[in-house]
Amino acid sequence: MAERVLIAPSILAADFARLGEQVRQAEAAGADLIHVDVMDGRYVPNISVGPLVVRALRPVTGLPLDVHLMIVEPERYVEAFAAAGASYITVHVEACQHLDRTLALIREAGVHPGVTLNPATPVSLLEHALPLVDMVLVMTVNPGFGGQELLPYALRKISTIRLRLAECGNEHCLIEVDGGISPATLGPAVQAGANVLVMGSAIFGHPDGVVQAMAASRSAIKEASR
Ligand code: DX5
Ligand code: ZN
Repeated sequence: MAERVLIAPSILAADFARLGEQVRQAEAAGADLIHVDVMDGRYVPNISVGPLVVRALRPVTGLPLDVHLMIVEPERYVEAFAAAGASYITVHVEACQHLDRTLALIREAGVHPGVTLNPATPVSLLEHALPLVDMVLVMTVNPGFGGQELLPYALRKISTIRLRLAECGNEHCLIEVDGGISPATLGPAVQAGANVLVMGSAIFGHPDGVVQAMAASRSAIKEASR
């Protein structure tokens, strides 16, 4: 089990009319990273935000900006997101023609490279890339929308990824889970070895606000880590 579990609130569930304020609230409430979901209407059906929003958020928070690219040909936009202030750029293994090259491009741009796979994509597809990344993102919903229900079968990949990372000497690589994560569902992900939890609706959609949401998540993590 991971020593410290980080929380990455996803701005997809935030109020975009008050985005800066919501990100500040999340930081003050103890968030560890800010997750930015980038969707192009092609790789996924939905359209969200681009480098402009990353640039706008950069001076608002001291937290790392964790940019999740759900777009085709992500290599075309690495430079723009790096220049905008991304700390991590994660690309989908299914969307990359030349995964190695794209990951190298991200590293050369001074950004932490991450790789992700959809719930139905096997770990074998990214095995060769594991020594090259600082984050592996395990999607626990089919990407495109917030507020979906977690697919438990996707969690089975976490222990395999942890094992393979250890085998290639990259045990410091973060393992992030994304989709349907809440205080009620995070237990099995944490127990399997995930150490970054993306949470959209569970944080920004919480009826009692971000502070309560963060507190509830921390206590669920503590419970799961016993
Ligand atoms: C889904 C996105 C997620 C989304 C998670 O395509 O990658 O980051 O914002 O939202 P919740 O936590 O509501 O499932
Ligand atoms: Zn995401």
